[in-house]
Order: sequence, then C-alpha cells, then structure tokens
Amino acid sequence: MNSPIGLFDSGLGGLTILKELIKVAPYEDIVYVADTIHMPYGNRSVQEIVGYMKQILSFLEKMNVKAILVACNTSSALALNYIKNIISLPITGLIEPTAKKISQEKCIKRVGVLATRATTSSLAYTLAIKRYNPDIQVVEKSAPLLVPFIENRVKREVLIKALTIYLEPLINAEIDTLILGCSHYPLYLEEISSILLEKYKKEISIVDPAIYAVEELLTELKNIGITERGTGEVRFFTTGDAYEFSEKATVFINRPIKAKHINLREEGEIKIWRK
Ligand code: DGL
Repeated sequence: MNSPIGLFDSGLGGLTILKELIKVAPYEDIVYVADTIHMPYGNRSVQEIVGYMKQILSFLEKMNVKAILVACNTSSALALNYIKNIISLPITGLIEPTAKKISQEKCIKRVGVLATRATTSSLAYTLAIKRYNPDIQVVEKSAPLLVPFIENRVKREVLIKALTIYLEPLINAEIDTLILGCSHYPLYLEEISSILLEKYKKEISIVDPAIYAVEELLTELKNIGITERGTGEVRFFTTGDAYEFSEKATVFINRPIKAKHINLREEGEIKIWRK
C-alpha cells in the first residue's frame, strides 16, 4: 500500500507548495495540515514553532506518511534543523533547496528576501545562501501584514498598497532576484510581478521556493528507493474552522476542498522520533 506525503503550513500558504507537488507528481497521495488556529506563525517564537511542528508530525505519523514537506518558510527557518536531528522520516523544507539552487546561478548577484518577521529575524536565507556562495549579497525584508491580509482576504487595493511598501526597500537595494520567502506570497504572484514591472519598472526574477523543495523531496524519495505511486488523493485537515478553511482554499486551489477539523493536542506519543 502506498503511503502519502505529509505537507503542512499555518494556513493557505502551503497550497502553493501543494499545487507544485500535484503538478510534478500527480500520482502522489497527500495529507495537508493547516495549523490555522496558531496562524500567523510569522510572529511566533522558536519554542512555539517547534512545539506546533511536533504536534503536526505526531498527527502525520498517525496518517502513516512516508515523507514530510515543510510547506512553511517560518517553520523551515526556526525549527527544521532541530527537528531533522530527531526524526527518522525524509523531511524537506523550503530554504535549503532554494539557497542551493540559486547560489549556482552565475547571473544572480543581489537577492532580496520577502518573508515573515520570524523568518527574516532568523536570517536563515542569508546564512544558507552565503554558505553556498559568499559573494551573493542578500537583503531581507519582513512583511508582517501580508499573511493576515491574505488569510482574511482584504481588498485587493489594500494588499497591493502593502506589497508596494514592503517591496520598496528591496528595490532601493537594487536586487536582481526576489525570493518569495513565505509560502503565502506566491498566491499573489501576478500582483507582485506587476508591482515590480509597472510601479518600479524593474525586471527582477522572482523565485518561488516551492519548485526547488518539491524537486528535492522527490529526488530524495527516488534515491532511497521509495517509488510506489498512489492515486493522487489529497486530504485536508485544519486545526481551525474546517468550513472557513475549505471555502478559502477552494478559491485558491481552484478545486472543491472539504477539510476536516483536528485537535492536535489530543494526538498521542510520537514514534517517528529517532531513538
Ligand atoms: N506560510 C508560512 C511561511 O511560509 C507561515 C506564514 C505565517 O503564518 O505567518 O512562512
């Protein structure tokens, strides 16, 4: 029997990773967890993020997942290094595969990272990129309002105004490449591209970490001989209001979604931890 891939985020952002995974590997069964009760993750501490991640992993273990895709930059930045040492399943985040790939591109000299406050404060992107290529300059900008704006579906003009303000310091720093360092942001990729082109008249290449993370996880599964295929079934779970999440997710993913509510505190002991 094929096991699913577990994927999680604080909310809707992980859908951008889910879309990429479905595009590249439509045969994979997937379990998606949206920890909406604790969203936004971007204002939380390392201890909180590690705690939530442990609860989510314990749930995913019960769903018998074969691997985990951390579809959240904040969790990748704050908790993944710690979790990787104690978990025995393949687990991939968003930052490392992106840093590895972009540092190989000769034309990239100045990178801007737009991300949550927790991610930019951790400097996870800067440190990872510099580890692969110390010559690349990295500028990080936090955008604390974007996730609440996206989740609460504020008016488009309000979102565009906030995006324009947040992008300005990165434009002033003369970046040639922009990493969307929060998985929520590619939901507004078109708006971001048009602000860069129309308002700032800049041709900046935009990087969506989803592409590299999905590629890395699938390569790892192949390398370790996990090759069984499923039927492409995707199940959604949320720690918040299931109706609300389903409504919003349906709009973004363009297919009907019916999420189930889960209470992670009720989940028991974790067995996937290394002994
Ligand atoms: N989408 C997540 C990220 O990539 C979390 C955003 C949040 O909840 O603040 O960082």
